[in-house]
Amino acid sequence: MKIKTSKFVISNTNWRKGPEANLPEYAFIGRSNVGKSSLINMLLDRKELAKVSGRPGKTTLINHFIINDEWYIADLPGYGFAKVSLKQRNKFNNFTLEYLRGRENLMCVFVLIDSRLPPQKIDTDFMEYCGNKDVPFVMCFTKMDKLTSRELNKNLTHYKKEMLKTWHELPQIFITSSNSKYGQESVLKFIEATNPYFKID
Ligand code: GTP
Ligand code: MG
Repeated sequence: MKIKTSKFVISNTNWRKGPEANLPEYAFIGRSNVGKSSLINMLLDRKELAKVSGRPGKTTLINHFIINDEWYIADLPGYGFAKVSLKQRNKFNNFTLEYLRGRENLMCVFVLIDSRLPPQKIDTDFMEYCGNKDVPFVMCFTKMDKLTSRELNKNLTHYKKEMLKTWHELPQIFITSSNSKYGQESVLKFIEATNPYFKID
């Protein structure tokens, strides 16, 4: 897919105040600092559309972007952000979870996972949550540039093996690097192929 235009639309804590749900939407979620905002910029060939930071917890709101005037991206706050108070953390998590359950144009959630780490409970719990709530998701391994291909394969094999202990089949998996742009084409192809399935009830 060719990206012709990408624009910031609005930031919210309440998904009901987001843009009208009249176009297909894709959400990016994962732990703080996993690379959600960087991946969005990489996909769209933009440097600073989504705000990136070395400090975890940069994205604290649901940020909507519109692409080619045809589909939306939602950049979500990182879950499990340790450096804010528990009360604050629950607040993030609650409005994000409400968004996931309520947003009717949500086609798929990209669950971002740091390819350097062994499976983290917070990620596997989140994917189970999606499964239980019938929220479609794919896995997207990030920062693959930080690993050798041997390390990457080892980690992926291990992750898949762990997933198959609870899942009958694996979700679709993407491997990405915002630095090298690895994975850009396959993610955009997936979105392009999924968009036509959008329908308004
Ligand atoms: P929050 O908004 O805090 O939840 O973080 P986020 O998930 O949006 O992460 P962000 O995109 O802000 O990136 C966090 C840090 O990781 C930044 O320092 C990025 O430069 C770095 N980073 C993100 N993606 C990659 C990648 O693919 N490769 C490398 N080497 N670094 C990356
Ligand atoms: Mg962010």
